[in-house]
Amino acid sequence: MDNETLTITDNRTNLTYTIPIYHGSIRAMDLRQIKTEPDDFGLMTYDPAYMNTAACQSAITYLDGEKGILRYRGYPIEQLAEHCTFLEVAYLLLHGELPTLDELDCWNEEIMAHSLTHENVKKFMEGFHYDAHPMGILISTVAALSTFYSEAHKITDTKIRHRQVVRLIGKMPTLAAYAYRHRLGLPYVAPDPDLGYTKNYMNMLWRRLEPKYVCNPVLSRALEVLFILHADHEQNCSTSTMRAVGSSNADPYVTTAAAIAALSGPLHGGANEEVLRMLDEIGEKDRIPAFIEQVKNGQRKLMGFGHRVYKNYDPRARIIKQVAEEVFDVTGRNPKIDIALELERIALSDDYFISRKLYPNVDFYSGIIYQAMGFTPDQFTVLFGIPRTVGWLAQWQEMLLDPEKKIARPRQIYTGEPRRDFVPATLRGQKELATV
Ligand code: ACO
Repeated sequence: MDNETLTITDNRTNLTYTIPIYHGSIRAMDLRQIKTEPDDFGLMTYDPAYMNTAACQSAITYLDGEKGILRYRGYPIEQLAEHCTFLEVAYLLLHGELPTLDELDCWNEEIMAHSLTHENVKKFMEGFHYDAHPMGILISTVAALSTFYSEAHKITDTKIRHRQVVRLIGKMPTLAAYAYRHRLGLPYVAPDPDLGYTKNYMNMLWRRLEPKYVCNPVLSRALEVLFILHADHEQNCSTSTMRAVGSSNADPYVTTAAAIAALSGPLHGGANEEVLRMLDEIGEKDRIPAFIEQVKNGQRKLMGFGHRVYKNYDPRARIIKQVAEEVFDVTGRNPKIDIALELERIALSDDYFISRKLYPNVDFYSGIIYQAMGFTPDQFTVLFGIPRTVGWLAQWQEMLLDPEKKIARPRQIYTGEPRRDFVPATLRGQKELATV
């Protein structure tokens, strides 16, 4: 539309500029023409933490934080969680369409064929300390895969790129399971491709001496749903890291390792582990009010609450709450759910949380389910990283194929010292001499 423009008057010069508006945004580069002198660099935008900056165009995930909407490739997350398998959703995210039955069969087979790892991977995993955090192990081993597949740097070759994508999706559960068993001193269990993605993962985690591990179908379906909910979430901290590192044309293994590192932080994927620690620390319902007071005084954060984008209930948290009840019917009720529900009830009726639009996010309930299923808290972020690998790779591919792709390189506002001359070490600290 012709009137989709913005008119700006620069009060420094009284000059007026008309800038096109595209999808509710202006191009930051259009501001560079706004100068006070011909040799002026031009106007920039300042947006620490990308609070209001769209860094890319993407057709993968749609999120409306005000309305609590999440869609993958146009499909509501609720429908995908109800009807799909995780690998079906993975196909959708990467290819843009849901697979036909034949396509799905091939896709399942292709991914599962890549669940095996090179024997040397096991060997170097043995070198990690017995109590190494599984996220540290995962970051390192995924990066190390780069040394096994020398073709991986050929990121412009469609076939080679596809091979690395299926390798990474196929191997993530295997690496995660090895990291878990390493910690317990248990022998690694080889993948069993016939079991499918989530059941095979559970088999590699928990099989002991039985000839065939049989997992409860309610629990494996719960894990499938949790994987679907975590598969992508547009431009969050780890996905932006994936795009930024990938923009330098680094190979997908080291790039994914960087994204896993971003995910590991307690403000991002690491929050689910922190929620469990927080619920443990609260321990009893009657200690909740005192804890809430600490949060309101700024001494603590209510982990699993708040989101940069969702200012309404996180739709994933709603689905997870439902899954929790199904899991508890099998495992017995995790007593932490009652503390969590009470915490949520109190928080959602308190002005501190209401005025700041703080609601439970995906991490608030996921850890409680994972714990009931038998996962230890240090596994929780790994359980986030496995499915999110699909989203990272979909976003990475989209970034590589984007005609506007360039290496990510933000600007800064320099606030340091103006030019000054070098002072020899012998004279430093002697102010009067240093100024001579
Ligand atoms: N507990 C208490 N207060 C909070 C919380 C919280 N969990 N989250 C935000 N606030 C408060 C802030 O102190 C701030 O208050 P103020 O205006 O008085 O200063 C206000 O709400 C706005 O918060 P910001 O930190 O500016 O919000 P931002 O968008 O930068 O942060 C974040 C979002 C990091 C998720 C934050 O809400 C948080 O730390 N939550 C806890 C950690 C967590 O659960 N992370 C998982 C996020 S989901 C995910 O990554 C999968």
